[in-house]
Amino acid sequence: MTEEILNSNWKLRKGLITAARQMTETEKLFEIKLEGRELDHEPGQFVQVEIYGVGEAPISVCSSPTRRGSFELTVRAAGRLTAHMHSLGKGDWVGIRGPFGKPFPVKLMTGNDLLFVAGGLGIAPLRSLINYVIDNRREFGKVDILLGCKTPANMLFGEEVAGWQKRLDVNFSCTIDRTDPDWKGNVGLITSLIPGVHINPEKTFGVVVGPPIMYKFVIAELLKKEIPERQIILSLERHMKCGMGKCGHCQIDHPKNYYCCKDGPTFTYDEVKDAKKL
Ligand SMILES: Cc1cc2nc3c(=O)[nH]c(=O)nc-3n(C[C@H](O)[C@H](O)[C@H](O)COP(=O)(O)OP(=O)(O)OC[C@H]3O[C@@H](n4cnc5c(N)ncnc54)[C@H](O)[C@@H]3O)c2cc1C
Ligand code: FES
Repeated sequence: MTEEILNSNWKLRKGLITAARQMTETEKLFEIKLEGRELDHEPGQFVQVEIYGVGEAPISVCSSPTRRGSFELTVRAAGRLTAHMHSLGKGDWVGIRGPFGKPFPVKLMTGNDLLFVAGGLGIAPLRSLINYVIDNRREFGKVDILLGCKTPANMLFGEEVAGWQKRLDVNFSCTIDRTDPDWKGNVGLITSLIPGVHINPEKTFGVVVGPPIMYKFVIAELLKKEIPERQIILSLERHMKCGMGKCGHCQIDHPKNYYCCKDGPTFTYDEVKDAKKL
C-alpha cells in the first residue's frame, strides 16, 4: 500500500449535511459536519465528495478554516453526480475524503497587498481565502476584490458580497457582462475593472479564479500592472479520476507534466505559463 493511501486524508469519512440552500438556478450551497475530527483544510484545497452508489467528484471548500465546526461547498449541477447532490438536503449523508491539493500560499502573501479576481463559480474557492484574510485582516496590506458574473441572477453569496462592499478595509468592485434592468453597477467584462485599481506591483499578489477563458485576459492586465509572474496565483480545474497523482487524467499540457490534483490546483503563473491551456 502506498504512503498516500495510508495517509488518513484518503479515508472516506461520513459528512452530515447540516444546511443546504439553493443559491441560483444551478448552484446550491451545502454546510457539512464531519463525524469525528474537523476537516482542517487550508484555503484553496478541495475535497472528494462521494454520493453513495453514484461516484465521487472534486469540489473546492468555499468556507474559511477560521470558521470552525463545519465547512461549506458550492455545487453547480453539471452532470450525474452533481445533480444527485442537488437532490440532497439537511439530514442527508455524503462521503468526504480530503482535504487535497496545494493551498493558496497564505504565508507568502502575509504582509502584502492582495488583489482578488473572481469570475463566476471562481468565487467559491476564493471565498475561502477572502474570508480567511478578513478574519486575519491585520496580517495583510491593501485588499481589492473584483468580482464578475454574467447577470445579477448568477451572483453567488449576494448578502456576503454586500457585506464586503460595506467594509472600510476592503475595496470591492463588481461587474456583470451585459446590461440588465435589475443592475445599476458596472457593466462589462471583469478585465475592465483592473486598470482602475491602484497597485504597488512589488508587494501585490494577484489571485485569479474563474473560467479558463478568463485567465488569458486577466493575466495580461495584471502583467500590464507589472505584478511579477510568481505573484500571480491561479487555481486550475481539470477532469479528475483518482485525485492522487496516479491515473494521469488531470495532467496539464506543460513541459513539466504537472498533475492538477497533486501539484495544484493552485499554481503561480510563473509555473504554468508554458501550458498549452490554463
Ligand atoms: C480542483 C477542482 C475543484 C472543483 N471545485 C468545484 C466547486 O467548488 N464546485 C463545483 O460545482 N464544481 C467544482 N469542480 C468541478 C466538478 O468536480 C465537476 O463539475 C464534477 O466533477 C462534475 O461531475 P458530474 O458527475 O456531476 O458531471 P459529469 O456527468 O461527469 O460531467 C458533466 C459535464 O461537466 C463536464 N465536467 C466534468 N468535470 C469537469 C471538470 N473538472 N472541469 C470541466 N468540466 C467538467 C463534463 O465534461 C460534462 O460535460 C471542481 C473541479 C476540480 C478539479
Ligand atoms: S486525478 Fe489521477 S492523476 Fe490527478
